[in-house]
Amino acid sequence: MNILIIGTGYVGTTTALVFAELGHQVTGLDKDVSKIELLNNGRLHFFEPGLGSLLKKHLEQNLLHFTTDQENAIKRNDIIYICVGTPRDSDGSANLSYVEQVANVIGKYRNRYKVVVTKSTVPVGTAEKVHQWIADDNPESQIPFDVVSNPEFLREGNALEDALHPDRIVIGGSSQKAINLIRSLYQNMHAPIIVTNSRAAELIKYTANSFLAMKISYINEIAKLCDKLDISIEDVAQGIRSDHRIGPHFLNAGMGYGGSCFPKDVAALLEVSKRNQVNLSILEKVVTVNEAQPFYLIQKLSEKLGSLKGKKIGVLGLAFKPGTDDVRESPAFVLIQDLLSKNVKVSVHDPVVKIADHLDSHQIVQCDSIVGAARNTDALVLSTNWEQYLKVDWLNVKRVMKTPYIFDGRNMLDAQKMKNDGFDYEGIGC
Ligand code: UGA
Repeated sequence: MNILIIGTGYVGTTTALVFAELGHQVTGLDKDVSKIELLNNGRLHFFEPGLGSLLKKHLEQNLLHFTTDQENAIKRNDIIYICVGTPRDSDGSANLSYVEQVANVIGKYRNRYKVVVTKSTVPVGTAEKVHQWIADDNPESQIPFDVVSNPEFLREGNALEDALHPDRIVIGGSSQKAINLIRSLYQNMHAPIIVTNSRAAELIKYTANSFLAMKISYINEIAKLCDKLDISIEDVAQGIRSDHRIGPHFLNAGMGYGGSCFPKDVAALLEVSKRNQVNLSILEKVVTVNEAQPFYLIQKLSEKLGSLKGKKIGVLGLAFKPGTDDVRESPAFVLIQDLLSKNVKVSVHDPVVKIADHLDSHQIVQCDSIVGAARNTDALVLSTNWEQYLKVDWLNVKRVMKTPYIFDGRNMLDAQKMKNDGFDYEGIGC
C-alpha cells in the first residue's frame, strides 16, 4: 500500500522504515530540506541503532523516498500518517500547532478519499480536531475522509525492535472502513490489535507512559527507604518482578526518568485532568519524586565530600538513556547545572553526546575517554547506563582519581566488585 508519513523526526522516520520493512511503498514528507536531503542520501539526522542500515536497504529497493513537495505527496497517497512534534506548552499542555498546520495542508490538497492517522502523542479529542481542521480548509468539498488514532509505543534506543515487534497495536476511530484499512497495514505483524474509538486510543498512550513513569518514581522512593534500612533495592525489585501482576520491567531505580516523552506526557495528562476537574494526585507525586531524584545524588555527594565548592566531579553519560543522543530532560543535565551553580569543576564523557552542543560553560571539560573524565576528580557520577561503562577497567580509572568515590546513578555496576576494587561505591538504594 502507499503510505505518506508527514514529519521525519524520530517517530516519523522509524514509522516510515517499519512500513517499508512490511513491504509498503512509503513517502516521507518534511518542510526541512536539510533533513530530506540527508535521508534521501541514506543518512539519519539522529542517532538510533539499526535504523541506518534499514534506511539504505529500503532506499535501494525503492520502497522509500523523502520529499518536501506537500501537494504531490498528499495527492498521491491515500493513507497519511501525522508524525509531527507536540512539544510541551508553558502550562504543561501539548502544543498542537504543528498538527494543525499539517491538517490544514492535507485539507488543502486532498483530491480523493483519504485516511489520516495521528501517530504523534496527542491529547484526547485531537482526532476530532484534526477532522475539523481538515474539513475547515475546504468546507465546500464533498470528498470524504476519515481520521484514525494509531499511537506509537516505541522507545528511543530500541526503536526498531519495538516498532517491528510491538506488544500491541492500538487503532482508534469511528469508521469501520478506515479501521480495516489501517489494520491491514499491520497484517504481517504478530501483535494483538486493540480497536477502539479515537479518544480512548489517545488516552491509552498517555496512560501507558504515565503508568511507566509511576513505576519508576515508585521504585525510586522505595530505593531511598532501602538506603536508610541498608537493604538492596535490587533484591527488593527482584522479589517483586517475578509477580506477574507487577511485571519485570521499569523497576530499575536511578536518577529518574527523562527524555522527550515521560516528562511531557505526564504533564499533559495532568493538565487534561485539571481541566476536567479530576484530581490525578498520584501523578503529581510521580513528577515531584522524579524532579527531586537528581538532587538525591547531589545530597549523597555532599554527605561524602562536604562542601562541593571547588571540587572536581566526573560525570559519565549525558544522554537521557543509552542508545540515543537525545538529552531532552536528561537527569544528567539537571545534575550538571546544579554542580555548576555550586562552583564545581565538571568533566564529562558520553559516547555520542557533545556537551558543547547543549551547554556553554568554562567549568566543563568534555573528554573522549572515561579515564580522561576521571582524572583528578574527587568523585565520579554514572548518569547514563551506556553498556560500555560495564566493560571499563575500573582499577585503571581509580588510579587517576583523587579520591575513589563513585556514585552509580543507574545502579548498573556490580557494587561488590567495585568495593573489592577499592572504590567507595554508592548506588541509589544499594
Ligand atoms: C517511552 C516509552 O517507554 C515508550 O513506550 C513510548 O513510545 C515513548 O516513551 C514515547 O512516548 O514516544 P522512551 O522515552 O524512549 O520511551 O524511553 P524509556 O526506555 O521508556 O525510558 C524513559 C526514561 O526512564 C529514561 O530516562 C530511563 O533511563 C528511565 N528508566 C526507565 C528508569 O529510570 N528506570 C527504568 O526501570 C526504566
